[in-house]
Amino acid sequence: MTAEPGLPDTLRDLPAWTPGPVELADLELVLAGVYRPLTGFLGSYDTAMVIAGGRLADGTPWPVPVTLSVPKELTDQERVVLQDPEGVPVAVLRVEEAWQDPTSRDWRLAGPLEALRAPAHGPFHGLRRRPDELEAAEGNALTASPEEGRPPAPPANKLAVAVRDPLHRKQLGQLRQVAERLGAEVLVLPLLGGEHDESLVRALLGVRKELPDGAQIIPVPLPVRGDGGDAAVQEERDVLLRAHVAAAYGATHLLLEHEVEGTAIPVVVPEPWAYDADVEVWRPVARIEPDHVQAELTQERLNELLDAGEPVPDWFTPPAVAAELALARPPKLSRGITVFFTGLSGSGKSTVARGLADALVERGGRTVTLLDGDVVRRMLSSGLTFSRADRDLNIRRIGFVAAEITRHGGTAICAPIAPYAATRAEVRRMVSAVGDFILVHVATPLEECERRDRKGLYAKARAGVIPEFTGISDPYEDPDDADLTLDTSRMTPDEAVAKVLDLLVDGGWVRSA
Ligand code: ADX
Repeated sequence: MTAEPGLPDTLRDLPAWTPGPVELADLELVLAGVYRPLTGFLGSYDTAMVIAGGRLADGTPWPVPVTLSVPKELTDQERVVLQDPEGVPVAVLRVEEAWQDPTSRDWRLAGPLEALRAPAHGPFHGLRRRPDELEAAEGNALTASPEEGRPPAPPANKLAVAVRDPLHRKQLGQLRQVAERLGAEVLVLPLLGGEHDESLVRALLGVRKELPDGAQIIPVPLPVRGDGGDAAVQEERDVLLRAHVAAAYGATHLLLEHEVEGTAIPVVVPEPWAYDADVEVWRPVARIEPDHVQAELTQERLNELLDAGEPVPDWFTPPAVAAELALARPPKLSRGITVFFTGLSGSGKSTVARGLADALVERGGRTVTLLDGDVVRRMLSSGLTFSRADRDLNIRRIGFVAAEITRHGGTAICAPIAPYAATRAEVRRMVSAVGDFILVHVATPLEECERRDRKGLYAKARAGVIPEFTGISDPYEDPDDADLTLDTSRMTPDEAVAKVLDLLVDGGWVRSA
């Protein structure tokens, strides 16, 4: 855990730590001055005050706890090097307080941050700008075009939208209307931190022509914070933070769909717009004959269209956005999917998984990778034992590979025992972020698995020769989130495969034969 060579000598011996994604985003925004007045991670008192009342201990409004979790071993350090996931040091934290969160019991470090080097990679890095870079650029633009000896006055207002979803025709129209009314420049802040960051930025760049002249697009790392707690409270804090970020970039107004109290800059809620089916334009509802108002395309309907591979209508969103939506949510027939079998040793997982792989390959249209338990143990996970920690690591490795296969539109079929619910849930999360996940519980009773005992392992486990054997001397947690449950003592392997195939056909992932 020691920092990499290449650091200044004084830092080389410091311990290094890689914060989580939200913490790294916070770190970047602190260093960029977007989170001013914050200069680092918050201590216990500030955090308690922020959670209780939305203010720092000195009374400054601040909406979210900006904290850093670390392992207990780091809590006696004076300085810690913080690095990105690739191990590149990005900052040094001067520790002012090590504290334990009263609820989660996590250990936290607080104190000011000192930048080592700017995080200099990631898609669309060239678009990212710090507020001071933006100010400098705007200052130059002003002095470069003096008019009668004096720089022209900049537009007094700057209207920001800070979004995690693309802007469709309605929002674009509302944005133009509000910007015109305020005489404002427009600043679009795509909020990064999801799986489809690049897609979001491209969808916004793709509608540049529909934005008011001179609109700026600046991506900002602001992932959704999983702080736990009430969803409505989280949503409100998120909006307050967006307003704060927008203000740091010089915005005077923030465009939002709903009014929110206590924002750093005033919120503007546009008047309702709708699509006028008569003249085929979006415009304020007040100007449309009631019987010409076309019903909105709901998120559900949009998802249905994308799932089926049908075109997203042009009246709803520009073609550039439609193309990005289809890339981010491909039609189910070509979307990546992981079918994850779980069950006891000897339950028939491998047989059904192999049968499914064969059936899918025979039908065509999908590329299939089979990650069978025993095969993985010989390759990807050779050397691992059957302790809980090693089993979890084994399943995480399988999940990592399955998620990559799924991300690229393939079909991963996994068949480990995977005895722990929490680890299976982790794999479900990893895969679901990039495609679809189906859990099949092969629930063949232990007695039947033991009766079959093809590898003679149950006998050895009963005799105590193999310790920690699942079902005998080690736990198996039955899933309560299985999409399908099979008992191979009551059906033939072909029948079991047919059931899984039916599920895939019914769900739209596989064409019916
Ligand atoms: S898991 O728990 O990490 O998911 P995995 O599916 O990779 O297990 O490996 C299970 C296979 O390893 C079993 O089918 C069996 O052949 C073999 N095995 C050897 N020792 C054990 C054990 N202690 N518990 C379960 N399976 C074992």
